Amino acid sequence: MLSEGLGLCYQPGVTTILDGKLIGQELREDVAKRVAAFTLKYGRKPGLHVVLAGADPASAVYVRNKEKSAHEAGFDGHVHRLQSDVSQEALLGIVERLNSDPNVDGILVQLPLPAHLNESAVLKAISAAKDVDGFHALNVGALWSKTPGLVPCTPRGCLYLLKRAEVKLSGARALVIGRSNIVGKPVAGLLLNESATVTIAHSRTQDLKERCLEADIIVAAVGIPRLVKGDWIKPGAAVIDVGMNRDEHGKLCGDVDFASAKERAGCITPVPGGVGPMTIAMLLDNTLLAAVAREAATVR
Ligand code: GUN
Repeated sequence: MLSEGLGLCYQPGVTTILDGKLIGQELREDVAKRVAAFTLKYGRKPGLHVVLAGADPASAVYVRNKEKSAHEAGFDGHVHRLQSDVSQEALLGIVERLNSDPNVDGILVQLPLPAHLNESAVLKAISAAKDVDGFHALNVGALWSKTPGLVPCTPRGCLYLLKRAEVKLSGARALVIGRSNIVGKPVAGLLLNESATVTIAHSRTQDLKERCLEADIIVAAVGIPRLVKGDWIKPGAAVIDVGMNRDEHGKLCGDVDFASAKERAGCITPVPGGVGPMTIAMLLDNTLLAAVAREAATVR
């Protein structure tokens, strides 16, 4: 017997489509207002610097979108475009320069890096106070010990959407599908910090359908096109789809079969236009938070 999903977003027969494009835009407008106030107060714009190594086409698109949104919201900043054969030393040199530049508040090194580079060494080299991705070990530790720190952007966006939909998190059974450092693990930590009962599943999990049917909240971030089917979803559950895949016809799709899932979910994010736009909005918010914290820590 299926029980109804938790949360205010559930009305039998009614599914809320969580419009990340709209909610992300509202958030970016709010950030832009706070950026203007920051600029007036401190006489400088907050600065976001993005490092892009190599020519991965998807990364190039993501970085262009980040650059455009940052400028529209009033940030200063620059994209450091590096050749695919850039050396580890040269990349670390750029990170060091940005770490010590007082006008730089946020540093983001776009992943994945070309294979010859040591990703964890690069992430570790970024000053934790400027780590707007929240990937530095100090920020990862802060998340898991529920202490202040910078929180990864996509997971923050997922939680923001759940809260906007007034989904009850405390005591909810949450299933995260995917165990990446970028999404799966941090989103699980955030849900745990909200007192959800969290299960982390992944591509090797047995009985995934049964685990899904038990869940009040599903966050799918495993990178398998339309893995989660409509009849895997508990009626009224909240479904957050982080997947960004191409199907066999080259069409953009998520990790959830949206057409069948929306018939059962209480609320659900579309792909595209769900979680994706939230990531950039949260990146801008993280950069402003980092800038404010750095100014507060500056002795004048
Ligand atoms: N590649 C895919 N997603 C991300 C992200 O959130 N941050 C960085 N730095 N690289 C990514």
